[in-house]
Amino acid sequence: MGMSGKLMVGNWKMNGSLAANASLLSDILNGMAGVSCHAAVCLPAPYLAQAQSLLAGSALALGAQDVSAHESGAYTGEVSCDMLRDFAVRFAIVGHSERRQYHGETDTVVANKAQRALAAGITPIVCVGESLAEREAGQTEAVVKRQLAAVIHTNGHCISEIVVAYEPVWAIGTGLTATPEKVQSVHAVLRAQLQAATAHAERVSILYGGSMNAANAASLLDQPDVDGGLIGGASLKAPDFLSMLKAASR
Ligand code: PGA
Repeated sequence: MGMSGKLMVGNWKMNGSLAANASLLSDILNGMAGVSCHAAVCLPAPYLAQAQSLLAGSALALGAQDVSAHESGAYTGEVSCDMLRDFAVRFAIVGHSERRQYHGETDTVVANKAQRALAAGITPIVCVGESLAEREAGQTEAVVKRQLAAVIHTNGHCISEIVVAYEPVWAIGTGLTATPEKVQSVHAVLRAQLQAATAHAERVSILYGGSMNAANAASLLDQPDVDGGLIGGASLKAPDFLSMLKAASR
């Protein structure tokens, strides 16, 4: 389900340098033979120009890690969709838990960012996921449904053009992952919610994120509603990222 073929997205977070990016991107590009899944890397904004030129003509798409909810103007520090488009950015992560946690992004802000991206022809990768406390309180489904509902409410029929990433907050960067069965059950809830909003819910790729790595990727990707992955730490190591791209290409 989702777009035809899996979608694997690297989220580099606040890592990299001109030299390190050149070497990592060239190692990834040199290992892409046999990769047939969709693949993208989301870089810090200052490096999008560098990545655009290194990735030109390749099968690796370019993404950003955030985007402004505003079109242009007096928003110091923010980056607009039009600016991202100048660098051939195809995807923008919105509502990552680190943005929600450290930058106070609400469900409404996240929904507005998704809407702005869609209007500009950039695919928003909308992140949802429960904290450990919410999970322990049995609120996982309620939390992810509330987060996705805001995006559905604001975006109406366009919702079939988004990508969703289910990222349990307690699994991000911790080495802990939800079991494949548990991930599948949350993805099925999200799929059903999308189905209630659009006749094209099958088009929406629902990615899993949170300590996905070369060892656990295949079992997660085997689940019927896991359409790919959003990968942080393991996407910074070319051999690991490539092995996950290959696991998604079977
Ligand atoms: P991780 O990060 O793979 O390092 O857990 C995933 C994410 O935050 O997108």
